[in-house]
Amino acid sequence: MNRIFLIGYMGSGKTTIGKLLAERLNYTFVDMDTHIEEKYFKSVSQIFAELGERQFRLLEQQCLHEVSEFENVVIATGGGAPCFFDNMEYMNSHGITVYINITVEQLAIRLENSRTNKRPLLANRKGEELNTFIAEGLAKRESFYKKAYLSATGSDEEILNQICLNIH
Ligand code: S3P
Repeated sequence: MNRIFLIGYMGSGKTTIGKLLAERLNYTFVDMDTHIEEKYFKSVSQIFAELGERQFRLLEQQCLHEVSEFENVVIATGGGAPCFFDNMEYMNSHGITVYINITVEQLAIRLENSRTNKRPLLANRKGEELNTFIAEGLAKRESFYKKAYLSATGSDEEILNQICLNIH
C-alpha cells in the first residue's frame, strides 16, 4: 500500500523519521498535528486549552480520515491518535502502520532536549516526574501501538532501515 502511518509516543521521532522516509521513497510527508493547526488556525496547545482534549480527539480523528485519502504519503500521527475511537483499526485498513518503539529512557532524553510549549500533556514535567509520566503513559498506550503491522527499534537511522526493508 502506498500510505505509511508512523505511530508512537511523543518524542519517538515520528516527524524526523517520517521526513527522511518520505524523501527515500519519494513520497509526500504529512504531519497530522501540523495539518490540524493549519486547518483550524490554532496550535494544538490552543485547541487543548480552549476546546479541551475531547474536542481535540474529534478533530484529530477527522484529520486522520482526511489524510488517509492521500496517496504516496508518509503520515506522522500524534502520539495519542492510535488510542482513541477505532483509529488504529482504521489506519491498519488504510495503509502500513509502523510503531516507533523506543525505550522510556530514550523518550525522556529526547523530550527533555526538545522542550517546547508544543505538547500540552507534558506541561512543565521534567526529571523524575517526566520519566514516571512517560512510563505510565506508554504502559497504557502500548496495547494500541502493538497492533501496528511493524514495530521498529533503535536509532533513527536503524528504524529507517528497518522500515525500508519491511514495507515492500
Ligand atoms: C499527543 C501528542 C502530540 C499531540 C498532542 C497530544 C498525545 O503529538 O498530538 O499534544 O496524546 O500523545 P506528538 O506525538 O507529535 O508530540
